[in-house]
Amino acid sequence: MDFKTLKIQLGESIAWVNLDRPEVRNALNAELIGELTEVFDWLNSRDDIRVVVVKGNGKCFCAGADLAYMKAMAGFSYSENVADAERLSKLFQTVYFSNKAVIVCVHGACIGGANGILAAADVVIAEGSTKFAFSEVRLGITPATISPFVVSKIGNTAAKELMLTGRRFTADEAKAFGLVNLVVDEAGMLDAERQYIDHFLHASPDAIAECKHLLRLVSGTADPYNPIFQQTSQLIAAQRVAPAGQEGMKAFFEKRAPEWDR
Ligand code: COA
Repeated sequence: MDFKTLKIQLGESIAWVNLDRPEVRNALNAELIGELTEVFDWLNSRDDIRVVVVKGNGKCFCAGADLAYMKAMAGFSYSENVADAERLSKLFQTVYFSNKAVIVCVHGACIGGANGILAAADVVIAEGSTKFAFSEVRLGITPATISPFVVSKIGNTAAKELMLTGRRFTADEAKAFGLVNLVVDEAGMLDAERQYIDHFLHASPDAIAECKHLLRLVSGTADPYNPIFQQTSQLIAAQRVAPAGQEGMKAFFEKRAPEWDR
C-alpha cells in the first residue's frame, strides 16, 4: 500500500507505522487522518499481524491537529465540518477498537490530538524529554474528539487539570497521570519496544482481542455506536469556526499570543 503521510514496515507478526509529515511535526491533516484510519482497518483485517507499533518521524511524535487545515475549515459548511470532525473521531475509534496490541512510542512533543492516539492505544512508551500538552483551550477550542478516550484512560481529576489549563507537562508527569506506561531515555526506546512486543507475542492473539473487549466492557466503553462520538464531533466542528477558535489558530501562525492571553 502506498501512503503519502505514513511509512509502513511489516515484520513477522508486527507492523510499524510511522507518521511522516516531519516538516509540520506530523500534524494531523485530513490526509494523515484518512491514511492512518485506513492502515489500522487494513492491519485489523490481517491475521498475520499481532502487534502494531506507532511512531513519529523527525523531531516530534506529533503536534496534534493540523492548525492550518483546522483554520481553513471556517470556509466549509457546518455539515462538511461535522463530517470532517467525525473522520477524526473515527481514527481514534479505529485505534481503540483494534483487535491488535497497539504500542505507541513518543518523543519530542505530543500535543493535543496526538494524545488521542496515546489514549486509544494499549501501551505508551515515552522518551523522558517529551513535552506533553492538551493545548486546545489556549487555541480557543476544546480537546473534544479525544476526550472520551483520554478521560477513560486518565480519569476526570487529571483531565480537568490538564485540559482546562492547557499547560505543558513532562513524560514523568504523563506516567503519573496514567497516559504513559514507561519513560525511557533515547537509547532505551528500542529495548523497551522490543520487550513489550515480546510480551504480546507470548500471549494468544485471540486472547488479546478478547481481553481488549473485556477491558472495554468493564470500563463501559465497548459501544462503537456511543452517541458521544457524534456529540464531540459536533462540538469541535462548531468551535473551530467560532471567533475564539479562529483567533487562537491565527495567533499560532502569527507567532503571537491570542487576544485573551494575559
Ligand atoms: N499544525 C500545523 N502546523 C504546525 C503544527 C500544527 N499543530 N505544529 C507545528 N506546526 C508547524 C509550525 O507552524 C512550523 O512551521 P514553519 O516551519 O512553516 O514555521 C513547523 O511546524 C515547525 O514548528 P515549530 O513550532 O517551529 O517546531 P518545534 O519543534 O520548535 O516545536 C511543537 C514543536 C509541537 C512543540 C510546536 O510546534 C507546537 O507547540 N505546535 C502546536 C501544537 C498544538 O498546539 N497543537 C494542538 C492542536 S489542537
